[in-house]
Amino acid sequence: MTDYKILPSILAADHGRFIEDVKTVDLPTVDTLHIDVMDGHFVPNITFGPAVVASLKKHTNFKLDVHLMIDNVDARIPDFAKAGADIITIHQEATRHLHRSLNLIRSHSVKCGVALNPATPLETIRWVLEEVDLVLIMSVNPGFGGQSFIANAVEKIRELAEIRSEKNYNFVIEVDGGVSKKTAPLVQAAGANFLVAGSAVFGASDRRQAIEDIHQAIETAARKRRSLPV
Ligand code: DX5
Ligand code: ZN
Repeated sequence: MTDYKILPSILAADHGRFIEDVKTVDLPTVDTLHIDVMDGHFVPNITFGPAVVASLKKHTNFKLDVHLMIDNVDARIPDFAKAGADIITIHQEATRHLHRSLNLIRSHSVKCGVALNPATPLETIRWVLEEVDLVLIMSVNPGFGGQSFIANAVEKIRELAEIRSEKNYNFVIEVDGGVSKKTAPLVQAAGANFLVAGSAVFGASDRRQAIEDIHQAIETAARKRRSLPV
């Protein structure tokens, strides 16, 4: 089975008490948090900036996977790098010079990722695939938590995983939006490694159980696939 993990997205946590809330997902199966940064320009919503990233870095032991849904990325990357991001992902649609922006992330010794909106073809990132650490396939239009999963993301992930294995690339495939115990088995089977879950985790009163339920759903589906006659 492809290696995978679940990354709780703090977008769905209580914004007045991030530190207490993220401690509820401090579990052996969780080592990374997903941090959604929105600027009210690239997406129609505003969240938070580098100060929240710095605070999470200071008060928790999680790795921080920072998803920038902002314009003007080059002006902001240094601040998020200094705040302690372990991975910074930028949108293909948000920068004119994707290759340069990815290099800027790397120049701060931070892992770099590129994200694609649902309508953006894989072809648009073909020439950076060799160099990125992560590709984020959006399975909702970015901007809000709690939206419905766009089903054709599964096919997109599958195609990307095929390119990865054909070319022997090393990037991680991340999927973000509408990931739940129902959709997680589909994206995991298609080749996704990092499964971002916001409302499915922080919307539940028992976060440990919510994460466990997603793992169970993935493992049950994998067992079923293995027992099918070939
Ligand atoms: C959406 C964000 C997601 C969001 C996912 O723009 O990028 O990370 O937190 O939320 P859910 O899991 O509720 O769809
Ligand atoms: Zn995100």
